[in-house]
Amino acid sequence: MIFRQLVDSRSGALGYLLGDPIGQEAVVIDAAHGLADEYRRLLHHHGLALRYLAETHLHADHLSAAPALREATGARLVAGEGGGWACSDLALRHGDLLHFGEETLEVLHVPGHTPCSVAFRWRDRVFTGDSLLPGALGCPEGPGGDAGTLCASARNVLLGLPGEILVFPGRLRNGRRVTTIAEERETNPDLAAGVQCAQAVRRRCGQATAAQESDVMINNRQCAADRSGLDRLRPPEA
Ligand SMILES: [Fe+2]
Repeated sequence: MIFRQLVDSRSGALGYLLGDPIGQEAVVIDAAHGLADEYRRLLHHHGLALRYLAETHLHADHLSAAPALREATGARLVAGEGGGWACSDLALRHGDLLHFGEETLEVLHVPGHTPCSVAFRWRDRVFTGDSLLPGALGCPEGPGGDAGTLCASARNVLLGLPGEILVFPGRLRNGRRVTTIAEERETNPDLAAGVQCAQAVRRRCGQATAAQESDVMINNRQCAADRSGLDRLRPPEA
């Protein structure tokens, strides 16, 4: 397998390239706009055709590279159903499977950070976007973001995964870029026994919980990100 974690130094957002060297196909999760060229370079270097641009949610803090990479590669932009990504090619539901090469990505619906938030499980790891971060839950974002719903998703879906599963989040938190389900079960203060999770999230997030849709969110929703400077990289027709 091919696996890369890329950090957008401007926003702290983390994105991922997952590749199957046998089937020569790849998925990119949560690509930040500033890293589009690096994803193109990696795809070319490994001889991978990009099959899916998978988004965990409608991002409020950074523009996505997905619209530009879709145009450059012909990959399908996929995101959780619920109206987040108006420009997506496919609305994902809980339990959907995304195939690339001989690999499979499983969709987990985890609303709360945003209404359409999803996580993606692949092999021994799960990509949680901003829902579950190392040592905290993400702050609800935009219309429909809700701390109580987020807590329920974390407890009922994500913490129910096997403890040894690696958790790759959608952003750096205190410099950390990976954790495990077992560690979050045992040490995440928002999810500790006896803690009112929703209250803890609201108290910690405070002003960071924006109920309004930001310009970045609107741009992402409409796939209106600046697409200049990208060369064509469309894979040959199958
Ligand atoms: Fe977010």
